[in-house]
Amino acid sequence: MNTQDKNIIIRPFKAQDREAVATILVEGFGKKFCKLANLPLDKITSMFLDMGLVGEQQLQGQFVATSNGQILGIMQLKWHNQSRPKHKTEASLWTLCRRYGFWNIFKMTAGLTLLEESVDPGDCYIEHITVSPNARGLGIGTKLITHAEDFAAQLGSNRLTLHVVGSNEAAQKLYKRLGFTVLQTRNSRLLHWVFKESIVHFMTVNLAKKQS
Ligand SMILES: CC(C)(COP(=O)(O)OP(=O)(O)OC[C@H]1O[C@@H](n2cnc3c(N)ncnc32)[C@H](O)[C@@H]1OP(=O)(O)O)[C@@H](O)C(=O)NCCC(=O)NCCS
Repeated sequence: MNTQDKNIIIRPFKAQDREAVATILVEGFGKKFCKLANLPLDKITSMFLDMGLVGEQQLQGQFVATSNGQILGIMQLKWHNQSRPKHKTEASLWTLCRRYGFWNIFKMTAGLTLLEESVDPGDCYIEHITVSPNARGLGIGTKLITHAEDFAAQLGSNRLTLHVVGSNEAAQKLYKRLGFTVLQTRNSRLLHWVFKESIVHFMTVNLAKKQS
């Protein structure tokens, strides 16, 4: 089956997508999140919703890939001076701590802050991209990245950039096939301590070159 059979549409995020988006986000990065919160994945998903990490407000550059109305992939883009509304928690801090435990809330907030990257002017950065596990290998990731390239070019960006951990060889293979190259590799003790992943590659693709 290829993407044509699945009739994949890439569109901006809508408020009603939030539960599906939170589920796919946690499915995609579950191993990472489990290092931050000692909870089953469904609890981490509801924690994300209650913490307002996937809110109802539409963020610029937030896209979903759908097939027959079902969300199969998600992507968030970030760029310099992008306007982002502050996320609103759905529950009070007291309720969050009672539901999920103080340490889980503390470690999740600290860990996600650690993963936040600032973006250089002229760059458009893929903050996250993930495809539902049973829809991988069908070309949805490729379609999302192609969409990111078009969107970034419209923004006037020169480069599309992303970070990928050293152990994620399958994703690196995909990015290389799409023209990304590794610009920098960093070895972070802090990341190793928190996520048991120390190697992080910064990959870029030059949009002007690609479109000429
Ligand atoms: C990386 C990811 C977004 C790719 O999405 P996708 O829809 O499977 O990508 P495509 O179908 O367009 O391309 C598949 C390619 O990705 C690679 N790939 C990566 N992970 C794969 C997986 N779990 N299953 C199948 N292919 C995978 C394959 O090697 C394939 O390469 P090929 O086309 O040269 O054969 C997806 O595998 C995913 O969500 N992974 C988990 C989250 C993640 O690692 N995100 C990236 C963080 S930087």
